[in-house]
Amino acid sequence: MKLTIFNGSPRGKGSNTKILMDHFCKGFNAAAEVNAVENNLKVNVAYLVHTDKMEELLELFEEADKVILAFPLYTDCVPGIVKYFIEQLEPLCGRENNPDMGFVVQSGFPEAVHSRAVEKFLEKLTRRLGCKYLGTVIKGGVEGIQVQPPRMTRELFDSFYRLGVHFGKTGAFDETIIRELAKWERLPGWRLVLYKFAAFTGIANFYWNSQLKKNNAYAESFAKPEYR
Ligand SMILES: Cc1cc2nc3c(=O)[nH]c(=O)nc-3n(C[C@H](O)[C@H](O)[C@H](O)COP(=O)(O)O)c2cc1C
Repeated sequence: MKLTIFNGSPRGKGSNTKILMDHFCKGFNAAAEVNAVENNLKVNVAYLVHTDKMEELLELFEEADKVILAFPLYTDCVPGIVKYFIEQLEPLCGRENNPDMGFVVQSGFPEAVHSRAVEKFLEKLTRRLGCKYLGTVIKGGVEGIQVQPPRMTRELFDSFYRLGVHFGKTGAFDETIIRELAKWERLPGWRLVLYKFAAFTGIANFYWNSQLKKNNAYAESFAKPEYR
């Protein structure tokens, strides 16, 4: 089984998407080592941020048995580079031997509900391409993983590792892990109270403000288009 993972984050190799999918690949490769029947398992990772290499990216898509398109949720939908890549797939609609396709959508907001609309779009996309739909993994609350201590990310990384092992063994996502990862469909009341407290004290915005300062954009926090 030849699996190609397309990383659709504009942050490329510095992305949260990469961190999660690295754990997935570790699991996938572990399954490849022990799984004698499927010992020709192979995983490739390609970065959609290289839009100048579109021909190579499309070739990888065409040659794969399975494809996973993994990306961060951007304004409740896909980043521009993912949309551009999807548009380039149009000539492949209905092609024989199109790969099976699955998706990983990870986001800043913790609630899975934010990714449900794009999930519908992705399922429709596979129908239009004539690919078998392998499902969509949705995980919210991911933005902080690069600064969180290991005890806070251990469970998440382990879930992606186990997802990879299962995929290596079966060529499909594990439905139980998908449900575990999307367990906060909407935040329960007690978490909303905690969040309101964190917003009131400024803790909720600490990380975002530090990012704005790091990028010299803090003064523009509330910038908006001018109406003339
Ligand atoms: C331009 C932009 C738009 C975003 N839109 C959303 C959004 O609509 N909903 C959400 O939950 N997170 C949103 N996020 C947060 C990202 O999905 C989140 O930080 C993700 O973990 C980034 O992953 P990456 O490092 O792989 O790019 C947005 C981030 C950016 C930069």
